[in-house]
Amino acid sequence: MESLENKIVFITGASSGIGKACAVEFAKAKAKLILSARRVDMVKNLSEELKQKYNTETIFFHLDVRKRKDVEKAISDLPDEWKKIDILINNAGLAKGFAKLHEDNPDNWDDMIDTNVKGLLYVTHAIVPFMVERKTGHVINIGSIAGRAAYPNGSVYCATKHAVLAINNSLRMDLIDKNIRVSTVDPGMVETDFSNIRFNGDKEKAKQVYRGLKPLVAEDIADAVIYCASRPKHVNISEVVITPTAQANAFVAYREL
Ligand SMILES: NC(=O)c1ccc[n+]([C@@H]2O[C@H](COP(=O)([O-])OP(=O)(O)OC[C@H]3O[C@@H](n4cnc5c(N)ncnc54)[C@H](OP(=O)(O)O)[C@@H]3O)[C@@H](O)[C@H]2O)c1
Repeated sequence: MESLENKIVFITGASSGIGKACAVEFAKAKAKLILSARRVDMVKNLSEELKQKYNTETIFFHLDVRKRKDVEKAISDLPDEWKKIDILINNAGLAKGFAKLHEDNPDNWDDMIDTNVKGLLYVTHAIVPFMVERKTGHVINIGSIAGRAAYPNGSVYCATKHAVLAINNSLRMDLIDKNIRVSTVDPGMVETDFSNIRFNGDKEKAKQVYRGLKPLVAEDIADAVIYCASRPKHVNISEVVITPTAQANAFVAYREL
C-alpha cells in the first residue's frame, strides 16, 4: 500500500455524496485537498470541518465544470505548489430526468452531456499536462454501471457514462508512457442526492429507487477510490464495478417488499 500523506488530490463535485465522502477519506489519509463544486458554501464548510478534525491543508473554490474558461482559469490560478496534483477525481455529475427519449426534455440532455462528459474532459485537459510534466499522477473517474449497459428511460445518462468509460480507456492508452494511472470506479445504486436531482426534487420518487433493498452509501465508493489510489506505484486498477449485494446489474435487483 502506498501512503497518501501529502498527496495533492483534486475533487470535482466535493459538496455532497461521493465527492464529499472521498474528501473525508483522503483527509483521514493526510492528503492535501483541492475541493470544488458550484455550492461553494458547502465546500467551504467541509474544508473547515476537515481542517479541524484532521488538520488537512485545503484549497476550495466555486467551479462549474460545464464552463471551460472557468475550469482553465481555476487551474492556472492555482499556486505553483498546488499545481502538482497527484490524484484527480472526476466525480461531478448528475442524471436529469427519467423518460423515453422522444418524451424527454432536451434541456436535461444539455445538462448531463455538458457536466458528465464535457466537464470531465475540460478538467482532465487542464490538469493532466501538469501530471505529464512531472511524469506522475492518477486520474480516477466516477463512472456508473449505466456506462456498461443502457437501460430504458435513461438513454442520455447512460450515453454520458458510456462516454466516461470510453474516455477512461483511451486516456490510459494516451498516457501509457507517462507513468500516469487511469481508473474508473463504476457504482450501481448509491443513496445520495443523485435520485433527488434526477427526479427534480421529488423525494418520494427518489426514495422508491432504493425501496426494499440496502443501497450503497457514498463511503462505500470512497473506500474503493482510496483502494485504487493507494496501490503500489506499479499497479493500475483499471476498473472497479460496485453494486449493492441485492443489485446484480442495471436490470436485476432483489427487493424485499
Ligand atoms: N448515486 C448513484 O446511485 C450513482 C451511481 C453511479 C454513478 N454515480 C455518479 O457519482 C457521481 C457523484 O454523484 P452522487 O451520487 O454523489 O450525487 P450528488 O450527491 O448529487 O453529488 C453530485 C456532485 O456533483 C456536483 N456537480 C453537479 N453538477 C456540477 C457542475 N456543473 N459543476 C461542478 N460540480 C457539479 C454537485 O455539486 P454542486 O451541485 O455543488 O455543483 C455534487 O457535489 C456522479 O458522477 C454520478 O453520475 C452516482
